Amino acid sequence: MAARNYASLLVGLLALCHTWGVMADVEVNMEDRVEVFRGETALITCMFTSSEGIGGMSIQWFYVTLSGERQSIFYQDSAMKNKDKGTPFTDRFSVNGTGADGEIVLRISDVKVKDETEFICLIKSLTEGSGEGRTKLKVFATPDPPSIEVVETGISINENSPSKVGTCEVKNCFPKPNITWYRNNTPLRGAPDVVKVVPSVTVESSGLYSVKSDLSMKVKKEDKNDTFYCEVTFFVPGGTSMTETNHMKINVHYPSTAVKVWVESPKGHIKEGDSIEFHCHGNGNMPSSVLSIVYNGDDYSLDDNVFVLDKVTRRNSGIYQCTSTDFESDHVEEVSGNTTVFVNYLDPAVVTPTDTVVVDQGKELKATCNALSSLQTQVVWMKNGTKFSTGHSLILKDATFDSAGKYVCMVTVPEIVGMETSGTLDVKVQGPPDIKEPGYTEMEESTGSTVDLRCNVRGFPAPTITWTTSDGKILKTEVGLQSVVSIKVTSDITASCNASNEFGTDVATFNINATINTTTPANTPTSTSTSTTTATTIASATVKAQTETRAKEIKKEGNGVIIAVLIICILLLAILGSVLYFLYKKGKICGRSGKQDLTKEKSSKDNIVVEMKSDNTEEAVLLGVNGEKQHPSNQ
Ligand SMILES: *[C@@H]1O[C@H](CO)[C@@H](O)[C@H](O)[C@H]1NC(C)=O
Ligand SMILES: *[C@@H]1O[C@H](CO)[C@@H](O)[C@H](O)[C@H]1NC(C)=O
Repeated sequence: MAARNYASLLVGLLALCHTWGVMADVEVNMEDRVEVFRGETALITCMFTSSEGIGGMSIQWFYVTLSGERQSIFYQDSAMKNKDKGTPFTDRFSVNGTGADGEIVLRISDVKVKDETEFICLIKSLTEGSGEGRTKLKVFATPDPPSIEVVETGISINENSPSKVGTCEVKNCFPKPNITWYRNNTPLRGAPDVVKVVPSVTVESSGLYSVKSDLSMKVKKEDKNDTFYCEVTFFVPGGTSMTETNHMKINVHYPSTAVKVWVESPKGHIKEGDSIEFHCHGNGNMPSSVLSIVYNGDDYSLDDNVFVLDKVTRRNSGIYQCTSTDFESDHVEEVSGNTTVFVNYLDPAVVTPTDTVVVDQGKELKATCNALSSLQTQVVWMKNGTKFSTGHSLILKDATFDSAGKYVCMVTVPEIVGMETSGTLDVKVQGPPDIKEPGYTEMEESTGSTVDLRCNVRGFPAPTITWTTSDGKILKTEVGLQSVVSIKVTSDITASCNASNEFGTDVATFNINATINTTTPANTPTSTSTSTTTATTIASATVKAQTETRAKEIKKEGNGVIIAVLIICILLLAILGSVLYFLYKKGKICGRSGKQDLTKEKSSKDNIVVEMKSDNTEEAVLLGVNGEKQHPSNQ
């Protein structure tokens, strides 16, 4: 009964089929079908009942060939057991049991796909006739994991017929599996001109099936976010199972519906000379689409969505239109966007009057400086590197020689750093020459030395400077604002520098007192050095002579102080003398009036003597103060 239970387990829910023998006395029972995976072992059980004992019975197994004929594989009776040679099963089956318990099992190991067929169990009895039963062997193979490939180059939404999207493939399955395409978890069903699924089946040499499925469809822009995958359905013992591929996104190419163009740099104001970098982007992704920028009828192509316009001028102001052109199979689609560009400018500064202007001394000068610009400008007049005035106008009231010079007007645009221009105006103040204080006109120079006399003049037009000596000799004549003449000192010299132009004349006179070289120890080396230097180079001689002149000037000042002190002393002494004389005179009168009674009889001659003595005394006092031991008789 254990064998029967085993059989029941295998049968499961399958219905039993009762096959009645011809003689109707041998009853054979078999399962309708036995299902196994490839490579496993199949057990096909044949159950029979007979009133007769096993001794009078024969058992025979057949299989049904492709052409439908029965082919024996095994025979057994009470006397023998025989396996047929040369069948596909010969080496892989065995028959267990003697049949004594009414059951015999055909065991096929390492089941192959090609083993799927019908097996027949034939029981013959000597007395009761015969009976047979049939079981179908079903073989299953689980496929390899399925694969999916989608078109990587991208799919244009503008194709007229469905474009290939991808291929799914499943290999080595038995029986034949089914492939179903899914888009976003919804199965795709074939629809004319929209979705096309083409399966193809290959039977491998092993008898296993490999199935491919190509999906083609009309792609819409929204499909760029869709996921695609395949589901594979295949049979397994007792039902079906399924597996699925990876989920894939597809690359959808769609034309632009809008184009944006903008100036990437410079940010803010654009000025002449800048390079403008335009960026242009369409919202599509067609590889075939072409971007171009059109301005003023000129067509510029873009390189990687960027277009650079170098060294722009105000003429580059305007509207720039960027167009995306998509060349489709049957038409051309164009979409555009635009941006407006304004190139700011600053013209060169215009100064009026131009270049150089001459103004009379004491008169007023008005000049203007302007530069045309697209933006507000700021003007500053500069002189000698410092700010002179602000604003377009330059006004010089009461012009002096100090007003003369180079004026620079700087025009800037406050809104744009670095945008500037400038102009210059050379102002000449015309008037008579004016010799600047030379610093010295009287000087002492050692005889034999060379002295440089210098004349610095202001005035316009440039005066003629003439050097003359007091005896009328012309030393030098030149036109300019500065003149130097070197004079060899031989004796006292008076030299004049006469600067004159059409407006007047100015003269400076230099008096040189020639001095004999005293051989004081302090002076000797100086004079020696001076003469040596003069002989060597003119330049250093000039410097030396100037230095000496300076020293003598100081000396001259010292002498002046001493003289002044002396004069004051003499004046003081004179006053003192006068006072003393007055007192003496007064005293003599007083003394005479007192003595008159005593010496009235004395001769007037005596008086005269005394008087003379008194006079002498006065002189002696004066000279004594003076500090000179001079005898009064010398006076
Ligand atoms: C495959 O599809 C066919 C036709 O629709 C169907 O008869 C068969 O049962 C399917 N196979 C599987 C494994 O689902
Ligand atoms: C200076 O030169 C001018 C022109 O040569 C002449 O008219 C004038 O008399 C000169 N003056 C003196 C002081 O030498």
